[in-house]
Amino acid sequence: MDHFQFRDGVLHAEDVPLPAIAEAVGTPVYVYSRATLIRHAKVFREALSLLDNAHIAFAVKANPNLAVLKVLGDEGLGADVVSGGELTRALAAGIAPSEIVFSGVGKTHAELIQGIEAGIGQFNLESEEEGYELSLIAQRLGQRIPCALRVNPDVDARTHEKISTGRAENKFGVPLDRATEIYAALSAEPGLEMRGIAVHIGSQLTSMEPLETAFGKVGALIAELRAHGCRVTHADLGGGLGVPYRKDESTPSPAEYGAMVARVTRGWDVRLSFEPGRVITGNAGVLLTRVIRTKRSGNGPPFVVVDAAMNDLARPAMYGAWHDFDAVTPTGERMTAHIVGPICETGDTFAMDREIDAVAAGDLAVFRTAGAYGATMASSYNSRGFVPEVLVDGGRFAVVADRIAPAEILEAERVPEWL
Ligand code: LLP
Repeated sequence: MDHFQFRDGVLHAEDVPLPAIAEAVGTPVYVYSRATLIRHAKVFREALSLLDNAHIAFAVKANPNLAVLKVLGDEGLGADVVSGGELTRALAAGIAPSEIVFSGVGKTHAELIQGIEAGIGQFNLESEEEGYELSLIAQRLGQRIPCALRVNPDVDARTHEKISTGRAENKFGVPLDRATEIYAALSAEPGLEMRGIAVHIGSQLTSMEPLETAFGKVGALIAELRAHGCRVTHADLGGGLGVPYRKDESTPSPAEYGAMVARVTRGWDVRLSFEPGRVITGNAGVLLTRVIRTKRSGNGPPFVVVDAAMNDLARPAMYGAWHDFDAVTPTGERMTAHIVGPICETGDTFAMDREIDAVAAGDLAVFRTAGAYGATMASSYNSRGFVPEVLVDGGRFAVVADRIAPAEILEAERVPEWL
């Protein structure tokens, strides 16, 4: 459930009609609903209530906006970060360092130091090499760092190949068959406090079966580690739960997920943590756009050219992803069209042959489910600016990220004097 609903024929974000935001801020613009963010955080927490003291670290990559992080932090969520930049944001949003987990396959030396100095709660190590490097830094700083070892369970998540992370050929984690040896070796490191196993097999999972298979493998590994005398007190089960992008799509509910986790992890005797991203923010945001014009080329359906493009919302161009497209003030009439942005490549296509609300030049529309992996994946391709972000709360709204105009981006560039 989200708070983007029609009232008197006009699409609202909570109590705010979207045309009011378009008028005040311009388009394209990302619009987030605070009530929806809070609801999703609560639903996820309740889903895990069968577990003892589960830790939830929001995957910042899904939506790193400072205000969004503040809302989620206030709901008691920690943060899963994958770069120094994300760590800085999580801290700036007021999330306690102890509630922050640092994941990522390529943490640099500087980022390892930054994480230690910030006093974060846990590093998820992605390789033996990273463990030794972190241990050296920790010893130099006179510290012992809580760590989990990320394993690659070689499970096909059955999602888009570009967002699948748990197959043997993917770059993430250490192979399961070497995990015990590596965990034991790292446990002997004076700078590390090895305390658990982490796993994350992919994103937008629409079936729980691969997750259950992966978690089963983690359970067996924990038993094996203990049999080898290793201490295991934590397990991080990652994120990955999919969300419905289409009105007729059904995905496992957080409650079903929680019940499955409770069943599979029974008897593990560890503190469990989770790194949900999309399921928290996906349906809490829309990309509001205006139709520039419609045109025909060839005999096919018309093209609806909107002012948002693949640089603003990359998912359709990048993964062939579907985002529902709804007119903000639908007339009841329908049309079949291709929905495209203004960028000069054919990849800048949001939908082909899609049956949509009839729209014409000047009309407002939204791409739904744009609250995760939306604004954060934007670029300035074609020298377009960065889209602003707005947070709605009941009947009020605020710009929580300014539009960055092409001229501002240009300011960071120089022509050397020898040219
Ligand atoms: N934990 C780790 C270690 C991850 O790599 C990810 C996502 C998450 C948690 C959060 O996963 P979620 O709950 O959001 O599925 N740009 C892509 C998605 C990339 C996901 C990368 N990792 C997209 O737009 O679909």
